[in-house]
Amino acid sequence: MRTIGVVTSGGDASGMNAAIRAIVRIAHSKNIGVYGFERGWDGLITSSLRPLSPRSVSGIIQLGGTILYTSRSSQFMKKEGIRKAAQNLAQDNIDGLVVIGGNGSFKGALELSSETSTKIVGVPASIDNDVFGTDETIGFDTAVNTAVDEIDKIRDTAISHERIFIVEVMGRTRGFLALTTGITVGAEIILVPEVRFGKEEIIRRLKESEAKGKKSAIIVAAEGIGDTRELAREIERKMGAEVRLSIVGYAQRGGSPTARSRLLANLFADEALELLTKDRGNRIVGLEKGKVTSMELETSCNKEKPLDMHLLKLANVLAT
Ligand code: F6P
Repeated sequence: MRTIGVVTSGGDASGMNAAIRAIVRIAHSKNIGVYGFERGWDGLITSSLRPLSPRSVSGIIQLGGTILYTSRSSQFMKKEGIRKAAQNLAQDNIDGLVVIGGNGSFKGALELSSETSTKIVGVPASIDNDVFGTDETIGFDTAVNTAVDEIDKIRDTAISHERIFIVEVMGRTRGFLALTTGITVGAEIILVPEVRFGKEEIIRRLKESEAKGKKSAIIVAAEGIGDTRELAREIERKMGAEVRLSIVGYAQRGGSPTARSRLLANLFADEALELLTKDRGNRIVGLEKGKVTSMELETSCNKEKPLDMHLLKLANVLAT
């Protein structure tokens, strides 16, 4: 393995820069050159790449975002786009490719793997934490902490005004972010896309909470549960209480990565280079029960990571 490429793809997650830095520096220590492809898969299609040296990645470990930029490439959804990317990898003499991203990016990587002999390794980075094969993705802890900081502040005003707040966090299809955030802020109710809930059930639980003497409540809802604005109106009508909606939004994707997200970035990069130097591709690296591991890219793409239902039950017990 003489030259590898690195690409960040899909929604950015804080710690991607730390991962780029680690990949470049570990590769350098093994006499492997690194090129950074810009703007996700689009960079492979247009062969937009630049050499990365240990010095060119100085001072980025603490930065959110990605110095390589990212995108959700529509060209890469098409066979021609994937073939072009594969041709460019061959032309640019890229022996290995590290893909830093989430589920969607890994599905793209799997498609690409059938068109190229370049060895591909996925490094999970996503605030959604929904990659099968790793207990945690780079950026998840940072996103949770951003949401927790905001909700702690919202709790103050909720208590002062004796109001109910719905706080919407990201998670278009999965509730990992909402669940971890919810339990760590002591939310009265956590709503995730994986569990169907009726509005009546929410009202029943809020009334129960009120009967126990609680004068305010925080509902943490994943964006994927549906229309939170409508839900706020419905609760207001049925409870006769003041309800406010607050959306944490894109701030969860940015900001300086937490120590945990940075550490994960370094450990994942190390394992990715370990695999590539052994000429092993089509895998993703991950963390399982505290240990850095790897698994087949295809297995990761074809399986759905389960939400920890015990954690959800525990959150309900803690909210009493
Ligand atoms: O990065 C994942 C995610 O944050 C989802 O939770 C969210 O729904 C989505 O990205 C939105 O991202 P974009 O607007 O960039 O498509």
